[in-house]
Amino acid sequence: MNERKVALVTAAAGVGIGAAIASQLAADGFDVVVTDAHERRAGEFAEKLSQEFGREFLSLALDVTDFERVADVVKTVVEKRGSVDVLVNNAGWSKIEPLAQMSRETWLRCIDVDLNGTFNCMRHALPYMIERGTGSIVNISSIAAWETNTEHGAAYSAAKSGVHALTRVAAAENGKHGIRVNAVAPGLIYNEFLRKIYPDEFFDGYIENKSLVGRVGQPQDIANIVSFLVSDKAGYITGEVYGVSGGVCPNG
Ligand SMILES: NC(=O)c1ccc[n+]([C@@H]2O[C@H](COP(=O)([O-])OP(=O)(O)OC[C@H]3O[C@@H](n4cnc5c(N)ncnc54)[C@H](O)[C@@H]3O)[C@@H](O)[C@H]2O)c1
Repeated sequence: MNERKVALVTAAAGVGIGAAIASQLAADGFDVVVTDAHERRAGEFAEKLSQEFGREFLSLALDVTDFERVADVVKTVVEKRGSVDVLVNNAGWSKIEPLAQMSRETWLRCIDVDLNGTFNCMRHALPYMIERGTGSIVNISSIAAWETNTEHGAAYSAAKSGVHALTRVAAAENGKHGIRVNAVAPGLIYNEFLRKIYPDEFFDGYIENKSLVGRVGQPQDIANIVSFLVSDKAGYITGEVYGVSGGVCPNG
């Protein structure tokens, strides 16, 4: 029997938040299951964790938009590792297009990855958590859910707002089952791939004119709060959304 709590993290094999969360939860003692749409990188990252922590980590290919695959992955994790105690919904996607020019594909893809993907994973993990009477879920949203500017695009903002509502209702329904559900809304958490999504103006002067702490965010800033939220120290916290943005957009 697995003596460690099992944490399933989605989109855990990128260069940003997901990988930092997976590493932090491994350091916290969790049996982390590394999932990502990119199968090879998921395997490589699980191997890296195994080397670092001296124990074996499971990796599974998972595109969160695939409802049936999510069901299979959650079932596999329970069969191989014994439970799903923690679920971190980190997968996200965005493409910035003004609403008046937005393609239907952009709208649908954004809703599918950011909102449906979060639903899919919660939908399949919750029954196992309910059965065991324990669990903690953290959904990674964005300050885009709160902002009234043009920086992130309507599809992404709408999808992440939906994640907040999903978080709150899931918390309301499942508190009686010993399950806590929270969301974290990051501001700019810098990684090189963001340069492909956002124009240079988005980054220009960010540190000087927007951040209140003289720097951009790092993936570890999000890993730190997730580590707290899934711990027993956060036992009285559920249905909440925490902004982590260096003061750029404090909690809406
Ligand atoms: N980086 C930021 O500034 C920032 C700010 C606010 C919110 N967020 C949110 O944080 C989360 C992580 O963002 P990040 O930029 O740190 O990236 P990340 O590095 O954590 O994630 C990238 C990974 O996502 C995987 N992925 C993409 N689509 C997927 C899908 N459909 N199913 C499973 N995996 C998929 C990719 O293969 C890649 O490995 C996202 O939800 C994002 O919307 C990021």
